[in-house]
Formats: sequence, structure tokens, C-alpha cells
Amino acid sequence: MARRKLIYEGKAKILYEGPEPGTYVQYFKDDATAGNGAKKDVIEGKGVLNNRMSEFFMVGLGNIGIPTHFIRRLNMREQLIRQVEIIPLEVIVRNFAAGSMAKRLGMEEGATLPRPIVEFSYKDDKLGDPLVPEEYIIAFGWASQQDMDDIVSMALRVNDFLSGTMYGVGIKLVDFKIEIGRIWDNEFPRLVVADEISPDCCRLWDVETGQKLDKDVFRQDLGSLSDAYTEVARRLGVLPSNV
Ligand code: C5P
Repeated sequence: MARRKLIYEGKAKILYEGPEPGTYVQYFKDDATAGNGAKKDVIEGKGVLNNRMSEFFMVGLGNIGIPTHFIRRLNMREQLIRQVEIIPLEVIVRNFAAGSMAKRLGMEEGATLPRPIVEFSYKDDKLGDPLVPEEYIIAFGWASQQDMDDIVSMALRVNDFLSGTMYGVGIKLVDFKIEIGRIWDNEFPRLVVADEISPDCCRLWDVETGQKLDKDVFRQDLGSLSDAYTEVARRLGVLPSNV
């Protein structure tokens, strides 16, 4: 890898300065973490699979008119992206009860929700990404009311696209997280889907068997994470030949 300026290293990805102004190179690591870093492992090939799957979803969103930070994939582990100002929120969309919602409300895992529910966590590892109401987000100036309206409608469009795409390959989209960034084009701010979309940030269950094909396999010690991600990539038709 050529020597270049490190911008930020996160738990699963590294950002480097990009080749052109206004760009970054996003590198996908093999590291898997859960419980805010309490559980860690290296899953060989995960970065390669997530790079491909994130490319697939970001290109798909672009094709239906949902703007993203993605420019192009550069190689097995890297993609070129637009620099964005990340809004410090995890935007979570849920179709079925699972994870923290099922726990918090004492719901059965897999219970159908009356409609997709969008919720927000404040992105802060030290605080464990606490759930925050829209009222806080606007009062603290993390985003405006207009931004929030746009973010909710974007998140629901992403949900429609991802649910449909996944259902088409026999996978139920239980929930997912996206991050939203702001880009300034000629002084006009625009919101775009940023970060990544991969089984690291979705819950994906096989429609027929209910088998988990996402990071819960790692969180809950359910078997091989690499096999689960390989299966999702294979069904989506983006499995690289040498993984
Ligand atoms: O844990 P919880 O049920 O709140 O997670 C909801 C969804 O958001 C899951 O798909 C999970 O993988 C994703 N998520 C994430 N990063 C976090 C928290 C949740 O990708 N820090």
C-alpha cells in the first residue's frame, strides 16, 4: 500500500486522504468487534466482502436517485468516496423487533412491527451510542428540522430498496443502520448516505430457515461469520472469485 495520509481509523475501516481534493480512500479491515469493542476478532476476508457488498448497495441506491458518498471501488479492499461532514447519528430502521429494541421493550425477537420504525443514536463510543429523540438532535444543533425530515424520508427509501433487494435473494431485512453525511456543492448542503452498507450493520435472516447471516453470528457465537457473509455476497452475485 502506498504511503499516504491517515485521516481516521475506526473499528472496521480506515480513511486515507484521497487522490483528488474532496475525496477519501475508504479501506475495509478484517477486524470484527461487538459490544462497543468488548469482543474482537479478525475474520479473514471480511473486509474484501464488505467492500464488494457496500459497493453493490451504494451503486444500487445511486441508480434509484438516492445520493451516496461512493465514487468507485479501487481494489479488493478500498473504495474512493466523497469527503462528507458526518452527522453524528446512527440512523436505524427496523422492520422486525430484534436487538436493542426487543430487549428494551421485552419483545419477542422477530415480531413484525406495525410499520418500519426509524430511530436515532448519538454516535459516541464512550457513551455507547445512546438512543436519542429527534428533539435532542434539533435542540443540540446536530441537525436541523429540515435535515431530520429529509433523513427520515431517505432512510425509508433506503429501507424499501434494501428490503426488496434482499427479499429477492431470499433474505429478510430485519433492521439496519446507516450514517448520513453532508456535502457542500456550490455552498448548497446536500445529504448523502455515507459510511458503509454491509452485513456488519444489518440484521439479515434467511427467509426460509431464519438462519442469521449478519454480525449477530459473531455477537452471539453462532458459527462462522465468514461463511455467513460469503453466502450473502454469493446470493447478491458479488462474491469475488478468490475469497
Ligand atoms: O443493536 P441494535 O438492535 O440497536 O441494532 C440495530 C441495527 O443497527 C442492527 O442491524 C445493528 O447491526 C446496527 N448497528 C450498527 N452499529 C451500531 C449499532 C447498531 O451497525 N453501533
